[in-house]
Amino acid sequence: MSVRTALITGASGSLGHQICRQLHRHAETVIVHASTPASARAARVRLIRTGWEPGRIHAVSADFRRLSEVARLAADIRRHHPTLDLLVNGAGAITAPGFTPDGIDTTFQVNYVAPYALTRLLAPALNAVSGRVVTLTSAAHRDARLNPDRPGTDLRRPAEAFKQAHLALVMFSRTLARCSQRRITAVAVHPGVIHTGSFATVHGAGGLPAADGSAHVMHAVGLSGAHAHGSYFEGLLPGPLSAQAADDNAGLRLWQATAALIGWDYTGCRLPGWRPTDRADAPAAAGMAEGAARRPGPHGRP
Ligand SMILES: NC(=O)c1ccc[n+]([C@@H]2O[C@H](COP(=O)([O-])OP(=O)(O)OC[C@H]3O[C@@H](n4cnc5c(N)ncnc54)[C@H](OP(=O)(O)O)[C@@H]3O)[C@@H](O)[C@H]2O)c1
Repeated sequence: MSVRTALITGASGSLGHQICRQLHRHAETVIVHASTPASARAARVRLIRTGWEPGRIHAVSADFRRLSEVARLAADIRRHHPTLDLLVNGAGAITAPGFTPDGIDTTFQVNYVAPYALTRLLAPALNAVSGRVVTLTSAAHRDARLNPDRPGTDLRRPAEAFKQAHLALVMFSRTLARCSQRRITAVAVHPGVIHTGSFATVHGAGGLPAADGSAHVMHAVGLSGAHAHGSYFEGLLPGPLSAQAADDNAGLRLWQATAALIGWDYTGCRLPGWRPTDRADAPAAAGMAEGAARRPGPHGRP
């Protein structure tokens, strides 16, 4: 597997850093994302120390607690990198209870709504080269249920929001594969329980080294054929989906409801037999395979 341009979100984190290290042999240019400019710059410096040539690493930042930053990040990336071969959605965190300036549960936004928005805003660059999207999620998605028509509601604790976000990510990845009509390859992967980051907060002691987790992600990055189309992996093997994660109709409803949550009045997905429930959406549904929707919402234009 070799790619020209890869974007890794959460590249300052344990798994993100290891993934970037492993991409050294496979990617010409890697765009490393973190929540702040300082964190992204530090991630870049750490990678240069491991042997990455400075000209091959670009540092970018966006705080996923602000969708305006996600939209700005996507616009910057599309300006400098009109094509994107690989997007690894790796940023995530369990945050303090509360809501973002966008009015969404913070943990749910950082872990799901922001990656949803970023991926969709980058769809034209991904479509242009039949790119692939690998989304980090977890087996904890099976402990959650969500309302696909009202995502991000009824979240009592950040840990619950985190699990629902991971369920939403699995559903999003599967729907992305369907909506993009095979122009984008989408895989969701549970990297294993790694004793770092947010998962250490949830699970306490134990867990795999980050290098093992990143090897699982790299396996997902390298998948091809049917395995790479809307699949869900746990480690190196296809993983069991919860009933809701496997529900295609729920996935489409979630796709649409998340667009509405962000303030987009289109879904950008047109599948045979599927009718957007929001009338305003119908004329603007452009289909991600075509790579663009027509009307900008408050948080950018996919
Ligand atoms: N570790 C596990 O066992 C495990 C298992 C299953 C799935 N996962 C998933 O894998 C991903 C990486 O996990 P990890 O353990 O490597 O996490 P980590 O070490 O805590 O790193 C988290 C990354 O997300 C970024 N991030 C945090 N808050 C952000 C925000 N508000 N806006 C933008 N970026 C933000 C961090 O950037 P800063 O450094 O700038 O804050 C950092 O790069 C997460 O999505 C996690 O849910 C992990």
